[in-house]
Amino acid sequence: MGEETGRVRRWNIGMPITENPPRPDVEVVDSRLGAALYNPFLWAGEKRGVAELRRELLAGARGAVLEIGAGTGLNLPHYPEGLDRLVLVEPASRMGGHIDLDRAPAGVPARLERAPAEYLPFGDASFDTIVSTLVLCTVADPERAVSEVARVLKPGGRLLFLEHVRAEGGWRRAMQRRSVRAWAGFAAGCRCDRETVATIEAQMRIESIERDSWKGMPAIVKPLVWGSAAPRT
Ligand SMILES: C[S@@+](CC[C@H](N)C(=O)[O-])C[C@H]1O[C@@H](n2cnc3c(N)ncnc32)[C@H](O)[C@@H]1O
Repeated sequence: MGEETGRVRRWNIGMPITENPPRPDVEVVDSRLGAALYNPFLWAGEKRGVAELRRELLAGARGAVLEIGAGTGLNLPHYPEGLDRLVLVEPASRMGGHIDLDRAPAGVPARLERAPAEYLPFGDASFDTIVSTLVLCTVADPERAVSEVARVLKPGGRLLFLEHVRAEGGWRRAMQRRSVRAWAGFAAGCRCDRETVATIEAQMRIESIERDSWKGMPAIVKPLVWGSAAPRT
């Protein structure tokens, strides 16, 4: 089901969780223009440190890997060799249309599926590593997405995250508060003020976390946090 609003398509995607689906709807913005402009928009930030951060973060990936909200596939060239398999999920077909699976490391079987993070079409304890980069800002229901991450991670598995989050205070926080709706309209539903670390921590154990600016990007999407989290035992 898709509803066209100008150049933006809002998809309501029903996804089976297992063979016994409730098939709930998740709203996803799928814009042709947004998908085409995504990599150019991020270019300066990638050059000024995020590409390197992706590489450092993904060096921790092991075994069977799931990436949620894979976008245009910017992480693909940064995965290490020797993974058992790599599954990318991306609910927006126009973003996913830019993904080139040939950019995955040689010898790693990679595939793309259309699914929202809130309803991952995989069984419990299916993956050793889950990757979320710049995604929990945009998903419709971040709490539900993190609970799905915890569900499909194996015991001993790990979430690797890189996200922009709510500023702690000052003029940046004030600007986020004022512009949150306008930014979401511009940036395909991205919320610049999410407390994503708290959302992860409510359901998982944070193992490591770092924080810095997102250089080369608008002030409203700073700071960046990255690190790893494990399912609670
Ligand atoms: C800012 S982009 C990040 C793309 C990529 N992960 C990266 O690091 O460049 C956010 C992505 O989340 C996707 N997205 C939106 N809603 C989602 C949902 N409910 N579940 C999973 N991904 C979603 C968008 O289509 C988009 O590709």
